[in-house]
Amino acid sequence: MVYTHSSLPAVDADVVVVPWFEDDNASALGGLDAATGGELQRALGTKELSGRLYELFIAPVRDASWKARRIAFIGAGRAGGFTGDLARKVAAAGGLAMKQRRVARAALVVRTGAGNVAEAEISQAIAEGLTLSEFNVASYKTSDVPPGQAPSWIVIGGKADCATAVSRGRLLGECSNLAREMANEPGNTLTPREFARRSEAVVAGTGLSFEVLDEKQIEALGMGLLLGVARGSEEPPRLLVIRHEPEGAPAHPLLGLVGKGVTFDTGGISIKPAEGMERMKDDMAGGAAVVCAMRAIAALKAPIKVIGIVPTTENMPGGRAIKPGDILKSAEGKTVEVINTDAEGRLILGDGLWYARRLGATHLVDIATLTGAIVTALGKITSGLFGTHEQWNETVRRVANRAGDRVWPLPLFDEYRDQIKSDIADLLNTGGRPAGSITAALFLKEFAGGLPWVHLDIAGTAWAEESKPYLPKGPSGVAVRTLAELAFTSGEWS
Ligand code: BES
Ligand code: MN
Ligand code: ZN
Repeated sequence: MVYTHSSLPAVDADVVVVPWFEDDNASALGGLDAATGGELQRALGTKELSGRLYELFIAPVRDASWKARRIAFIGAGRAGGFTGDLARKVAAAGGLAMKQRRVARAALVVRTGAGNVAEAEISQAIAEGLTLSEFNVASYKTSDVPPGQAPSWIVIGGKADCATAVSRGRLLGECSNLAREMANEPGNTLTPREFARRSEAVVAGTGLSFEVLDEKQIEALGMGLLLGVARGSEEPPRLLVIRHEPEGAPAHPLLGLVGKGVTFDTGGISIKPAEGMERMKDDMAGGAAVVCAMRAIAALKAPIKVIGIVPTTENMPGGRAIKPGDILKSAEGKTVEVINTDAEGRLILGDGLWYARRLGATHLVDIATLTGAIVTALGKITSGLFGTHEQWNETVRRVANRAGDRVWPLPLFDEYRDQIKSDIADLLNTGGRPAGSITAALFLKEFAGGLPWVHLDIAGTAWAEESKPYLPKGPSGVAVRTLAELAFTSGEWS
């Protein structure tokens, strides 16, 4: 990805992509109508081009002094409503359209709409969007026409020098795509051990320290919840520990990121119905988000200490699997009565949160494809946000909003806690159907030790079931950018 301030005629690409606002007229950006030999004016007149979001209009360039041979106008909505988030989506939609048309070399013009948002923020978001559009879902196809190679990109800057913002966006987009690749990987190739190996490759060369604890070490730590879930599988569990410890960083704060790494969730003895079970290969999307955010955190040199913890296991119904009614003991010491073996994510995260605290975390975020109930509540657009400290909730919420990950808070009122009371142990692992996402979060809260803690439930957002102009069907890479950007906001924490 190249960043330049050269004039449009001088840009050396096959196609120049121009975000087009509903309130633009033919003289916007100057010279485009002449370059297209009047095609722009004509298309505006017939409403073939109106600027509606993601609408595409391609006109040949008639002016021989231009290097590019086509201009692709991509609808960007009203100039006054243009945000970083829309810039990201418009760039992604433009990128996908160019890739689909097998364009080899494309350029995109940075536009800031009505100027409500800083050019640096827009430029970063555009670089993220273009990079996200390069992701290829169909990596296992051999017989089909091979998927279009993504074009090489030139980003054409506006007024300011936003080269740093563009390379930051590029990197965050690449790390999001790495997480999507992992989530896309089927359960037969991505076992817990393979997840550990690939995670090591993701963090390699960044200066991060990477450690994998095996089943013996997990046992020595007393992680009965993680071991309990792993019992049903022939594949042993692992615990990934990734540390970012930049020289000269203060001891506090220490951000702890904990991700659910269930490489396949059959439900265990409380087995899931066959229909749609294949989707459960992405039950490690939270873990992948943590691993790939750690890569970004190191590459972008976050000024604080961060640790990433990913408990990873399969949830299988093997002969030694845990059964409903079994009681497990967590590393923290709390006992859990397992009512439903399909509520496995909260179990492994319980031990993961405890370990993050033991390693000194002062602020916690956990992220998990945790409950079907969150899909009922918020659909496929928004992740659920839960937390105990108002200010920490707000910080994560603000960062997520800016990073293009939609989140929305749900309550953790004490009254819900009754639903996970056990007669014979400290906790039940499920609270029944009502408020299923809330009781799951309340279970996790028991392991956050009173620290500022946020839980993100990404069960609805980790995987796109339908294609959008800006996001194809498949893994979304949700929360990678949020978790990474969070490590740069410590000045605002308390
Ligand atoms: N991994 C699932 C949650 C999930 C559901 C993710 C749909 C993506 C799409 C989780 O482990 C699970 O099975 N949760 C149960 C909990 C229930 C047994 C209390 C659920 O939501 O049904
Ligand atoms: Mn489950
Ligand atoms: Zn699960």
